[in-house]
Amino acid sequence: MLTTDPHIFVIFGASGDLTRRKLVPALYALYKGGFLPENFALLGISRTEMSDEAFRREVFFDNEHIQGAKDARFGPYLFYQPIDTLKQEDYKKIRARMAELDERLQTKGNHVFYLSTPPSLYPKIPAFLAGEGLNNSGGGWKRLVIEKPFGYSRESARKLNQELQQYFEEGQIFRIDHYLGKETVQNLLVTRFANGIFEPLWNRNYIHHVEVTAAEQIGVEKRGGYYDRSGALRDMVQNHLLQVVAHVAMEPPITADAAAIRNEKLKLFQSIRPIAKEDVARYAIRGQYIASTIGGEKVKGYREEDGVAEDSITETYVALKFYIDNWRWAGVPFYIRTGKCLPAKATEVVVYFKSPPHHLFRNEQDIMNVNNQLIIRIQPDEGLLLQFGMKVPGAGFQVKNVNMDFRYSGLTEEVVPEAYERLLLDVMKGDPTLYARGDSVEAAWQFVDPILEAWAGDPSIKLYGYPAGTWGPDAANVLIEGEKVSWRNPCAHLTDADNYCEL
Ligand code: BG6
Repeated sequence: MLTTDPHIFVIFGASGDLTRRKLVPALYALYKGGFLPENFALLGISRTEMSDEAFRREVFFDNEHIQGAKDARFGPYLFYQPIDTLKQEDYKKIRARMAELDERLQTKGNHVFYLSTPPSLYPKIPAFLAGEGLNNSGGGWKRLVIEKPFGYSRESARKLNQELQQYFEEGQIFRIDHYLGKETVQNLLVTRFANGIFEPLWNRNYIHHVEVTAAEQIGVEKRGGYYDRSGALRDMVQNHLLQVVAHVAMEPPITADAAAIRNEKLKLFQSIRPIAKEDVARYAIRGQYIASTIGGEKVKGYREEDGVAEDSITETYVALKFYIDNWRWAGVPFYIRTGKCLPAKATEVVVYFKSPPHHLFRNEQDIMNVNNQLIIRIQPDEGLLLQFGMKVPGAGFQVKNVNMDFRYSGLTEEVVPEAYERLLLDVMKGDPTLYARGDSVEAAWQFVDPILEAWAGDPSIKLYGYPAGTWGPDAANVLIEGEKVSWRNPCAHLTDADNYCEL
């Protein structure tokens, strides 16, 4: 079993939002759970001048993202070092500070460098660290963690990989995708590969199509500046949704270790058929939310958000239809969609099985009503729902759909950890299974690039407006209705959908 060695966890961009919102709460939860080693330090680094005490107050004692009473014993593990991250000179300060902490706290020269900074700094900080020999694994292990975006296209992702790999080996680089830290995304592998009943059906012979929906109720909030240069395809699809697709569709790995799982994922990304540029208008629907009134309250349109250009054509919604060119999935359409300002916050996978070959109960309505669906709910109300047909009691053979469900909330003794907790613990242990590998990231871009290029280069491809609070453009319904089915519109509760929905 991998252990959590003594180490210093260094966060670049320590005065930023992510540190307060996710990183320190996750590290504190690990501390409370007894997962941190005794010899541990969290060293925050950024430009703002601040003392250790002020940093402890800012990110821990006064942090409203940490619920409940705080255990003050965590405070002394936190340290802070102001530097100008763009000045090689200043990295001497980091080296001296870390040497002093290593010596005093016996952290053994093991260091995690977490870059919670603008992406433009990703290639720069490793170079500066190397300039001071801080990437050198001689006296303890060194690991580098970066957040998405991993490039803006395949070419820039490749360049970034090369730049990082100049200073850190691939095995030392951890590319975080918080969807992989979600318990339910990992459970996709267990559902498929630890059970005898699903996998035999998990192929083109029995599956009609697969849907993945990641719906968000919020708009872009304060992130307009970032989002307007990114858009839904880069922000959600290239990373999170394609990772979910990989878990649904990859071949069984030989073992459950990092290399075997990540090799299968790479193969899967390589087998997704890129949408040809001339097909983009048909198979990649883009939308942008426009102002509307929800529950009597006015909601801003995307173009009115702070940081967003008045004539922005950035998509806040995308729906795609694509195929996976391999033996298992030949001819099975995959539909994925994500959007901001939709009616509910829910992410789920729907595996939609084919109807039986011979329709014994000939009432057409009944046949259309029975669609065996396996719904894997990623969030919220995490769980699994299987829908199947049952005879309505009484005369004749009237059939209706019924539900069988499992919900994590039923496991009262288990606490589902936050994605960041799991992922930070894994990097401390050196387990890269749930991190994206460089080659996979490039392969995922290979699918996304032609869509982005078509959108950028062909003004005749429509950007549909959809009123905030609706399920996106109608064109996305047309996309799936060709299959004589419609999207399952998820609700907050797993077993509700469409017409009966608590929002
Ligand atoms: C982030 C995106 O990676 O994921 C955000 O940048 C998005 O735009 C978020 O809101 C969604 O994450 P979750 O865990 O809330 O589904």
